[in-house]
Amino acid sequence: MRSTLITDIAELTTVDPEGRVLTDAAVVVEDERIAWIGPAADAPDADDRVSVEGRAVLPGWVDSHTHLVFDGDRSAEFEARMAGESYAAGGIGVTTSATRAASDDRLAELVRGRVADAVAGGTTYLETKTGYGLTVEEEARHARLLAGLREEGLVDEVTFLGAHLVPPGRDAEDYLDDVVGPMLEAVREHAGWVDVFCDTGAFDAEQTRRVLAAGVAAGLGVRLHGNQIEQGPGVGVAVEFGAASVDHVNHLSDADVEALAGTWTGWDRASATGTPGTVAGCLPACDLSTRAPLAPARRLLDAGIEVSLASNCNPGTSYTTSMNFNVGTAVLQMHLTLAEAVRAATLGGALGLRAQDRVGSLEVGKRADLHVLDAPAAIHLAYRPGMPLTHAVWRAGRRAV
Ligand code: NIG
Repeated sequence: MRSTLITDIAELTTVDPEGRVLTDAAVVVEDERIAWIGPAADAPDADDRVSVEGRAVLPGWVDSHTHLVFDGDRSAEFEARMAGESYAAGGIGVTTSATRAASDDRLAELVRGRVADAVAGGTTYLETKTGYGLTVEEEARHARLLAGLREEGLVDEVTFLGAHLVPPGRDAEDYLDDVVGPMLEAVREHAGWVDVFCDTGAFDAEQTRRVLAAGVAAGLGVRLHGNQIEQGPGVGVAVEFGAASVDHVNHLSDADVEALAGTWTGWDRASATGTPGTVAGCLPACDLSTRAPLAPARRLLDAGIEVSLASNCNPGTSYTTSMNFNVGTAVLQMHLTLAEAVRAATLGGALGLRAQDRVGSLEVGKRADLHVLDAPAAIHLAYRPGMPLTHAVWRAGRRAV
């Protein structure tokens, strides 16, 4: 087992239960795990030594919501939105056509490129999903591609989103017969999660329940797209199914906030222990790109709900994998403190993927996922928005950037 001492850390944001931010700190990485954290002056010997020369270090970002399997361009749709059009789910069909036409090799190359971009921006734990296939064969092809990349260690979590949109020209109930039948059967060995876009223009509460129940019966965990376009049943159904996460949450009623808060009563936020509830997944880049009301992250946190920040990289509503951008925006626009935004983009995402015992903070025994900023303090993420602040990345103990 080889060890590396990473030292001369000006500011080390741990996101550990005490929320420690250490100055003049060091970390020892052994194999793929963190073996020691503390003041640089007390650091033990190690086989190798890397000085980060007075930079800030954070846990790698946990991007808990992306749609990386796609081909095609929807910049014209985006431009129309900037001229006043509203976002509607129908654009998913445009991407579906382009994606179906892409060869296996092309799709794999596109996804690999997007993963590389994400890692280059400090992301070390990544969820991604199907949802632009929308036939049994295509959803299975996309799920196989992602499972292969997970096998290679490039992505961490795979979600089945066959219920992303009723494909143009198909009857909804007839399509759902496929989703809960042969499609689920074809993807279940490749995916860990089932997801539904439960919103106006996509799937209603009953249809969502049908897909989630089938996914649960197939052994998949539950996550949901909800309350993006309008107030609706998404959050309620997510709570009903004990979903790990409900993402978007732009349009929430008081009852939605209360229902989410009710899922966190067995969780101690200060020590990050207990039984986690349903995370509220906030997607700031998507909110800006769709000109939606920003998800009420401040209100959700104040209600005792764990929040995640994710990129939602996809060609329709959020064509970016930049977690630095999302964290900066959460501070600048959503009124989160830097510490809250960093926690949401690390431990929050990990909770939303039920991976909090392995990743999401810098603690002895956890995976050595470290993000070194080209800045002396993490507040530079909001102070210098849009600047290329990622200097180096360790993923599972290996230098990735
Ligand atoms: O998370 N909301 C649903 N799915 C994606 C957007 C899909 C698209 O428009 O291509 C999202 O925003």
